[in-house]
Amino acid sequence: MTENAIITENLSRSFNKVQAVNNLCLQVPRGIVFGFLGANGSGKTTTIRLLLGLLEPSQGRAEVLGYDTVRQANSIRRRTGALLEHPGLYERLSAIDNLEFYGRAWRLPTLHRRSRIKELLSNLGLWERRNESVGTWSRGMKQRLAVARAMLHNPPLIFLDEPTAGLDPVAAVALREELQAMVKREGVTVFLTTHNLGEAEKLCQLLGVIRQGKLIAVGNPNELRDKASSPRIEIVGSGFTSQLQGLLQTQPGVEGVNIAGEVLTINLHKLISAAPLVNLLVRAGVQIEEVRKGSASLEEVFLNLMEADS
Ligand SMILES: Nc1ncnc2c1ncn2[C@@H]1O[C@H](COP(=O)(O)OP(=O)(O)OP(=O)(O)O)[C@@H](O)[C@H]1O
Ligand SMILES: [Mg+2]
Repeated sequence: MTENAIITENLSRSFNKVQAVNNLCLQVPRGIVFGFLGANGSGKTTTIRLLLGLLEPSQGRAEVLGYDTVRQANSIRRRTGALLEHPGLYERLSAIDNLEFYGRAWRLPTLHRRSRIKELLSNLGLWERRNESVGTWSRGMKQRLAVARAMLHNPPLIFLDEPTAGLDPVAAVALREELQAMVKREGVTVFLTTHNLGEAEKLCQLLGVIRQGKLIAVGNPNELRDKASSPRIEIVGSGFTSQLQGLLQTQPGVEGVNIAGEVLTINLHKLISAAPLVNLLVRAGVQIEEVRKGSASLEEVFLNLMEADS
């Protein structure tokens, strides 16, 4: 057993002139939720298809659960669950029959199969509607069923390509909680892509950001913040004026100043002492309630990474 669920070494894949995945070197430890972020067309789905052995690399290699993606793709597919763009459901069958079908294909023993199906359908809020044929279901409900399908055989690793796309906020939270519970309960490793940065922040211990096929940043959300955004201080109080804003902007080390109601945010070139700036504000008659270290939203970090030259 290797410690990493996924290892890629210079993994590359091109389609004609498009370099969809470019020299990807990535390690995903077991037992975590890894979030793969990137703009449309940046190579996320292609990476997942390479890891599942559905596509062959043009260069480099990858190992999933210790198996080589080219030579041992069957072993990988037996031990992983995947939700890809196509949900893989039989529209004319009921929810329960869909899962029964897949459960039999996985050769799950009858009793275990039934209890697992009930557990998943209940946890995903679908149990009451289990006998309806899936063709009549809304997109979000189908999506939840597709997640159940991916998790059915208790695989140690699941790939979820935009699992909450199209889900309403309540369903998205429910799915997120179910994923978190599964990770905790069963030690599952999750490789997920999402365009919802709030979701990535809540769910993932490790994030990778891909741009035009190249991995441009890896780290936990806090590390990415430190890497891709400038330090800032936030001052809560009253009496902020645009005149003061202008004055602060001319101080050494200050990159930008923003006032939003009772919060004044000062972006700094590098982390410097806030004292001189606070003094300046006090002398100008500002009532200060709190001075705190601010942090960028993941959204800001993401936009910075997308814009930066590399
Ligand atoms: N089978 C294919 N044939 C030709 N080009 C492909 C193929 N699959 C992917 N590509 C190209 O590879 C690039 C990466 O696509 P990919 O689907 O991996 O992006 P993505 O990050 O998943 O995007 P999205 O967020 O829109 O799902 C795109 O330029 C795409 O057009
Ligand atoms: Mg995709």
